[in-house]
Amino acid sequence: MNELIDFATEISMEAGELLLDGFRNSRTVVSYKSRTDLVTNMDRASEKLIFDSIRRKFPDHTVIAEEGSRSDSGGDIVWYVDPLDGTNNYAHGLPFFCVSIGVFSKSNGRVEAGVVYNPFLDELFTALRGGGASLNGRQIGVSAIGDIGISMLATGFPYDRTGPLRKNLGHFNDFMPLIQGIRRLGAAAIDLCYVACGRLDGFWEGNLKPWDTAAGTLIVEEAGGTVSRYDGSSYDPEYPEVLASNGKIHGAMIGVLSRPSMNGGE
Ligand code: IPD
Ligand code: CA
Ligand code: CA
Repeated sequence: MNELIDFATEISMEAGELLLDGFRNSRTVVSYKSRTDLVTNMDRASEKLIFDSIRRKFPDHTVIAEEGSRSDSGGDIVWYVDPLDGTNNYAHGLPFFCVSIGVFSKSNGRVEAGVVYNPFLDELFTALRGGGASLNGRQIGVSAIGDIGISMLATGFPYDRTGPLRKNLGHFNDFMPLIQGIRRLGAAAIDLCYVACGRLDGFWEGNLKPWDTAAGTLIVEEAGGTVSRYDGSSYDPEYPEVLASNGKIHGAMIGVLSRPSMNGGE
């Protein structure tokens, strides 16, 4: 697995530099999947770089990337690739985006390695199962806050403006009076890494994909945090709801997320 994480680190940083160059030099061309869901030429350029590199180096691995690149080898290892997490931020000139790569083993049924690279801040988060989590080579750990009343949480909202959005607006309203603050940073992989390094105490979101969460959830767990579904059951990359926390406020967050919203959500 060391070889996998080294390689994931190398290609995340290469793709991150490409994204940063596009960001700084206004090379971004936006197109719309729908009015609220956009994609840029840089998402695709980053994906091509990562996809081609993995295919060359590990032809017997499966690669599943957000913008549609797929290779199914039938082997044990699956790479989940988000070539640009935080596309909306990127397209609007907000410097908060990253590359996220998670390496999943089908036989173990879990993520084994994860890398999230934020090129604007030059922050590289990595984790290897059983080996801890680090930020730019230094070990990281979750926060010590055990009282949800003084916690800082983050969430995100789906592009789809129907049911899942309304459900999360309900959860947002439920949490707000109970906690210190909520942030909506716009890049789920970074939200997870911020839980891992103690900048946030918890994060929840209800409509995520494996490429958003595979790397970040392992980084949280390896930093000593807890990851589950809203009801506390085991995390599964294919399942859309993810709750990640420092562990100490996990039960309180499950308490809010597992009951019907009291504030107008569905
Ligand atoms: C999105 C971001 C956002 C989250 C959305 C994701 P993208 O990914 O992670 O924070 O709220 O649910 O789809 O489209 O920027 O890769
Ligand atoms: Ca994403
Ligand atoms: Ca993306």
